[in-house]
Amino acid sequence: MKGIILAGGMGTRLAPVTLAVSKQLLPVYNKPMIYYPLSVLMLAGIREIAIITRPDNQDSFVNLLGDGSAWGISITYIKQERPEGLPQAFVLTRDFIGGDRCSLILGDNIFFGHGLPELLAEAMAQQSGATIFTYVTRTPEAYGVLVRDGRGDPADVVEKPKVPVSNEAVTGLYFFGPEVSDMAAALKPSVRGETEITDLIRAYIGRGDLVAQQMGRGYAWFDSGTHESLLQSSIFVQAIEERQGLTVACPEEIAYRKGFIDLDGLRRCADGLGNGSYGLYVQGLCRAFGSGAGE
Ligand code: TTP
Repeated sequence: MKGIILAGGMGTRLAPVTLAVSKQLLPVYNKPMIYYPLSVLMLAGIREIAIITRPDNQDSFVNLLGDGSAWGISITYIKQERPEGLPQAFVLTRDFIGGDRCSLILGDNIFFGHGLPELLAEAMAQQSGATIFTYVTRTPEAYGVLVRDGRGDPADVVEKPKVPVSNEAVTGLYFFGPEVSDMAAALKPSVRGETEITDLIRAYIGRGDLVAQQMGRGYAWFDSGTHESLLQSSIFVQAIEERQGLTVACPEEIAYRKGFIDLDGLRRCADGLGNGSYGLYVQGLCRAFGSGAGE
């Protein structure tokens, strides 16, 4: 299974913050936004990951994440010349996917909730077709939404419906088979000049090959692409971390717990993180894991 993080785009809704800095490098509380989607892929057990960026800020991502080896993963960087739609991710990564199944996660999507690893494991186990994850929202007009038939099976997806047809938003986490590159390449741009992920999902519905998993009310999902949602996601993460004393989306911790790195690797990570609260957390993990506690 290959992982893809789509971290390009213009970030126009976050201007002027994004005029000089990529959206996915902005902090969500105490870590760069991209740590959150990266953590989801790592939690799923995916270790080969492609990050798609704008050409002009790829270097910043490389400076932050390198080749991924510090976390026991491998990161490939791919440039998207122009943001021509989410499905373009699968055209750009055709060679990277190379006949495997893949998971795409949007670089500004944050998922949190008990049972997430199990939900991911189920999607990972699927042998063919696609899985999408939906989330009940109060503002369906802002998203692509899933319409189900009388039996609860996926019937259609509608992009930003003006009249309410469903309150189940399609989130930015997807699993597809290797056929996805060809299917994405065959899509025609919509009136806004981009190919649409909803058209790709509709194609899977047409083949009877789509699983739509609803994330229940025990989950949090943020698309942190507006000033309001960016702040809300930061406050959410701060509140959880403060209450639990655990860090949300800490790739160093996930890498160790998943066995991608050993204790020495975790210590090397801690050495580079300084004495802020994030660094102290990773230092604490080293002590706890070193003494056999905290496993
Ligand atoms: P969007 O939030 O739809 O677009 P955006 O990030 O450019 O923001 P805005 O609407 O404010 O201009 O994109 C969702 C995610 O996908 C985000 O992480 C950016 C990324 N993306 C790409 O990398 N390439 C693309 O062609 C598109 C459309 C999005």
